[in-house]
Amino acid sequence: MVGEEHVPMIPSAPSKAWSAEVNGQFREVLAPSNAILLDVLRDKAGCLGVKRGCDMGTCGCCTVMIDGVPRLSCLTMAHEVSGREITTVEGLANGSHLAPIQQCFADHGGSQCGFCTPGFLVASQALLNNNPCPTEKEIACAIEGNLCRCTGYQQIVQSIQAAAAIHRGEADAVVSNNAAHSDPHPSGPEM
Ligand code: FES
Ligand code: FES
Repeated sequence: MVGEEHVPMIPSAPSKAWSAEVNGQFREVLAPSNAILLDVLRDKAGCLGVKRGCDMGTCGCCTVMIDGVPRLSCLTMAHEVSGREITTVEGLANGSHLAPIQQCFADHGGSQCGFCTPGFLVASQALLNNNPCPTEKEIACAIEGNLCRCTGYQQIVQSIQAAAAIHRGEADAVVSNNAAHSDPHPSGPEM
């Protein structure tokens, strides 16, 4: 109604400083005291690789590592993990060289439309960091919270097995294509 003041349904929470080591870099930002980690990473820390899928803990797209442990960032209060070490998909590569898990997803068809891929990569890397020789059952267990509509999962499992072989030193960095690539759009996409 004209002249009527808009009253938000949920009052906004006061902002306070949030800091963490994100992909090896100290980050400090202001975030509402009730902010969700997914929002802080995407909107404040610029980690757009962290995907919002279901926003309710069922798809795994938003998976990040917190102190090396995979967690769903859509179900994590940001201030609860202030001061911790957070790794998103952006933190897996070594500069412009893909990590073995990323290269293997590309080489073995583990990524198709790609929307689920950041969550799978982070969950898989967390597994390989602790277990470079996972069985198929252990792989299935590690990715059971991640959903993919495209691949049928078999290529994802094969990608993880191939990356595990590289971690064990049994495969030459399969990495046929893993030469450093320059950013094809250094100024962002053309509008
Ligand atoms: S967006 Fe977090 S589990 Fe789906
Ligand atoms: S590659 Fe499309 S949802 Fe997984």
